[in-house]
Amino acid sequence: MRLKYKVIVITGGSGVLCSQMAIHLSKLGAKIVLLGRTISKLEAVEKQIIEAGGVALSYAADVLDKEALLTVHSEIIDRLGTCDILINGAGGNHPEATTANTRFGENEIAGKTFFDLDHKAVGNVFNINFLGTFLPSQIFGQDMIGKEGCSIINISSMSAFSPMTKVMAYSAAKAAISNFTEWMAVHFASANIRVNAIAPGFFLSEQNRKLLTHEDGSLTYRGNTIIGQTPMRRFGNPEDLLGTLEWLCGSGTAFVTGIVVPVDGGFNAFSGV
Ligand SMILES: NC(=O)c1ccc[n+]([C@@H]2O[C@H](COP(=O)([O-])OP(=O)(O)OC[C@H]3O[C@@H](n4cnc5c(N)ncnc54)[C@H](OP(=O)(O)O)[C@@H]3O)[C@@H](O)[C@H]2O)c1
Repeated sequence: MRLKYKVIVITGGSGVLCSQMAIHLSKLGAKIVLLGRTISKLEAVEKQIIEAGGVALSYAADVLDKEALLTVHSEIIDRLGTCDILINGAGGNHPEATTANTRFGENEIAGKTFFDLDHKAVGNVFNINFLGTFLPSQIFGQDMIGKEGCSIINISSMSAFSPMTKVMAYSAAKAAISNFTEWMAVHFASANIRVNAIAPGFFLSEQNRKLLTHEDGSLTYRGNTIIGQTPMRRFGNPEDLLGTLEWLCGSGTAFVTGIVVPVDGGFNAFSGV
């Protein structure tokens, strides 16, 4: 029970990746707070944690709504205490901020080229990933001042190291997350708050399923390309992230801050040749 009594706030706690993180951290003794917009999805994860003997609370809040976050923040303090660890998991892409073609002039689809991208959709993707990490860090990070063993864990992406074709806004926003992770690590080192990020490789989720698989489950051209670029020749399972997460949350990494850890089956190391 290495994380016993730690209060861990997880945004996007009902998602494919972060729900498994929440369940795992609760087994290590942490008190889990699940944040997302849809309460029913959060409560389904909460139920699993409680049935397994853990402690969890769900709160519906949009990570872009500062007032809602402030309200939830004070409720959490009343019910569980201040936050020790924040996992900024809410994030993702949107089809309207995605080009249909991988390169200019190839397989263009009218209305889906770079020149057609809606700047509001691009802004929304930037907001959910970047501002959606900044705001919870601002609000829950304050709890960590003057406490021992606190940290913030952001979720970056392979597209932060080198941008993925089509998902321009998502790639730029995740690059911002990696950069912001380093910025906060430097800024908060004097407060003894560690800030690190995990950069997952490719994990099938609702956000990317249509890009990577056909209706019958077979791989799209892009899905095949990714597997071809992944030396371990598979997509990740959410469980693949848990060892790294536990390591970053625990006291064994007390001198580790400002890193972005790829958990990617070797994707980022492979030049393609
Ligand atoms: N899956 C992958 O292959 C992969 C790879 C690299 C990085 N990532 C990153 O890992 C993180 C988790 O991904 P995932 O695949 O687990 O995503 P997911 O299954 O789509 O879950 C996203 C979660 O974020 C919540 N959310 C979305 N917008 C929100 C908002 N404005 N305010 C509060 N909560 C919000 C969703 O709940 P509601 O919709 O109910 O709010 C849900 O709980 C994301 O940052 C993603 O970009 C994923």
